[in-house]
Amino acid sequence: MSEGELNRGLEGIRVAETRLSDIDGEAGVLTIGGYPVAELARNATYEESVFLLFEDRLPTASELEEFRSDLAGRRAVGEEVRAVLKRAAEEEKPAMDALRMGAAAANLGAGEEDPEADARRVVAVFPTIVATYWRYRVGETPVEPREDLRHAANYLYMLTGEVPDEAAVQGLETYLNTVIDHGLNASTFTARTVVSTESDVVSAVTAAVGTLKGPLHGGAPGPVLDMLRAVHQSGDPEGYVREKLAAGERLMGFGHRVYRVRDPRAAVLEAAASEFYGDAEFFESITSFEDVAVDLLAEHKPGRELETNVEFYTAALLDGVGVPKELFTACFAVSRVGGWTAHALEQLDDNRLIRPLSAYVGDHDRSWTPVDER
Ligand code: COA
Repeated sequence: MSEGELNRGLEGIRVAETRLSDIDGEAGVLTIGGYPVAELARNATYEESVFLLFEDRLPTASELEEFRSDLAGRRAVGEEVRAVLKRAAEEEKPAMDALRMGAAAANLGAGEEDPEADARRVVAVFPTIVATYWRYRVGETPVEPREDLRHAANYLYMLTGEVPDEAAVQGLETYLNTVIDHGLNASTFTARTVVSTESDVVSAVTAAVGTLKGPLHGGAPGPVLDMLRAVHQSGDPEGYVREKLAAGERLMGFGHRVYRVRDPRAAVLEAAASEFYGDAEFFESITSFEDVAVDLLAEHKPGRELETNVEFYTAALLDGVGVPKELFTACFAVSRVGGWTAHALEQLDDNRLIRPLSAYVGDHDRSWTPVDER
């Protein structure tokens, strides 16, 4: 093996400076753009959160209106992209595959080609890509974006074809603000790595979508909802958890690379989700399942501190708002694209190629054997 310490998974390694978000994993504190996550989540529109990340301050009223309408003007997708999304829906490809295909085409017809314009374009167009795919998926005609609606409201409008009520918009917006940025998670690291080669922002977010898709990162909330429904039906949370752990499976919605306590985003999303459940009994079964699961995980891995992560109440909140389970991870991307693009711009501001080392564990000194002698 080559010399030097091996760090599998880059745990504990700092490779970039950022002013975008700060995580204290021991204390369970998350700060986004200088604001505690709960404060930002409750008060901001999604446009304000994106502006905060891009500009490192909140916009004035007139700046906000200019920014909102600039994003609104970048929402439409062309016929070529629609055709790809239609095909993806017909083949029942997962929403994240459709989003990857749509994201890759996001600069088609977009005109300007600078990093800031690319960043605004991808933030603006992600909801349209997801909603267009979904409309095809359920056999409906895609709904054109409406420029007069704010980002979150327009997204729900394009999904359903109906102007959503303010409570649903606020519920979704709380979610979008809560997960917009989170340090150097795997997909954000991917985005920074791509632009560190002086590639472009559209390529960076396309790669980031692929990274977010996996269940160890953003793919967990769909399975979480299945689990919550199964447990609610069986009424036996302990039996469910014991069976999963005995089979060597991971419990989705628990554990985190950085947090050693409950993910602070869980509290924000739990509070927001609690307002949506007409079915109080189901919501109660969710919260009591969390207690049982955390206790049994402590018994299962003593000392590892497997606590609730963001995905657990993501499932509850998005379900409450009426987002279909198939779109949970794509909704995560619709938010996180704000963080990805802000990180890409930050990386470009003070760039150095990201290029770590590997530890070679193969042979040396082999000598070539011609093909007919092998
Ligand atoms: N359920 C059961 N066991 C878990 C677990 C979970 N949710 N999360 C971690 N563990 C166990 C691992 O199996 C491992 O056990 P081992 O040492 O016997 O192999 C140990 O705890 C340490 O896990 P590790 O894989 O080193 O943690 P990590 O920091 O690499 O992984 C996650 C963090 C998030 C990937 C991991 O906790 C996980 O897979 N969670 C479930 C998926 C999920 O909720 N993803 C969304 C993340 S926001």
